[in-house]
Amino acid sequence: EKGGYEHFMLKEMYEQPKAILDTFSPRIKGNEVVIDELGMSDDEIRAVKKIMIVACGSAYHAGVTGKYIFEGLTRIPVEVDTASEFRYRDPIIEDGTLLIVISQSGETADSLAAIREAHAKGGKVLGIVNVVGSSIAREADNVMYTWAGPEIAVATTKAYSCQLIAEYLLAMKFAHVRGKISDAELADMIEDMKELPAQVEMLLNNKKNIQKFANRYLAAKDIFYIGRGIDYAIAMEGSLKMKEISYVHSDAYAAGELKHGTISLVEDGTLVTAILTQENLYKKMISNMEEVKTRGAFVMAVTNVDNTEVERNADYVMYIPKTNKYFTNTLAIIPLQLFGYYVAVGKGCDVDKPRNLAKSVTVE
Ligand code: F6R
Repeated sequence: EKGGYEHFMLKEMYEQPKAILDTFSPRIKGNEVVIDELGMSDDEIRAVKKIMIVACGSAYHAGVTGKYIFEGLTRIPVEVDTASEFRYRDPIIEDGTLLIVISQSGETADSLAAIREAHAKGGKVLGIVNVVGSSIAREADNVMYTWAGPEIAVATTKAYSCQLIAEYLLAMKFAHVRGKISDAELADMIEDMKELPAQVEMLLNNKKNIQKFANRYLAAKDIFYIGRGIDYAIAMEGSLKMKEISYVHSDAYAAGELKHGTISLVEDGTLVTAILTQENLYKKMISNMEEVKTRGAFVMAVTNVDNTEVERNADYVMYIPKTNKYFTNTLAIIPLQLFGYYVAVGKGCDVDKPRNLAKSVTVE
């Protein structure tokens, strides 16, 4: 059933190229994004004034990526909440608010409660869901399925990757309908999207090098993940992948926040993973890398293939191929998934079933 792989998690990581393809290909017709299941006319898309994204765990991290992408491409204001907190701020849901709930299992109790809260306030809910016919799929007004297939490992990989794709498609659709991107820009994004499966595959095939590197970090006590902008979202997901399966404490910080407290934890040999895929943020990220290096940190960088300059400030670099600036999270997460996986394997952890965790969290 694991198809020759040592763990479901590794198998599911390897299923990502196909899962990504299966999620975007039915929604791309020539140079257009067509999302029939959205259930919204172009006029309704133009009438959206605010988007609220609600989810838990990795799905929440996908939502944080979504905020940067929706705001960047569509200029619609976006709020992102962890579902377990959403209700406690008496959320303001008005005419023109679209609530997006993201969930792999479709059974997460807090995410379901968020839908009910939105409905009680007259809001409209779009679900981005993996499990067909699940509770969230049934209660949302419309559902856009992520076609990742069944996910068995507790730590999500392919479902998360498909959640990102679903958000890209939605943001591209909204941006195009609202006149924020031209036909040519949309066509370019579609071309870049079509490259993603092969690029993910290539990154997966680098697993031996990452395993070698991971084996040096089996005794790590703390790992910090830093990024700015959209890279901060991937820092959060990379950090969660590490801690949930390897039990190594890790945290993600917006890179500029580090010096407001956390940098006091950096000492000789502390591993800091810096993610820098956004050209306009390279300089600032490099100065944050220098700050931690001066304090003895070992710096691992995830960056674009042409940013070799980073080698002056990093001890180890994982390169990702060139893509659209909004799609980089899809590529940057792959080495980080592999890194978390191989630290856990090296430590002999129960990778597919980490202690204290359940695949689907049906209590609040
Ligand atoms: C982490 C992980 C969890 C889930 C979270 C939400 O690898 O799997 O953080 O993302 O429990 O679950 P769903 O997506 O089923 O609502």
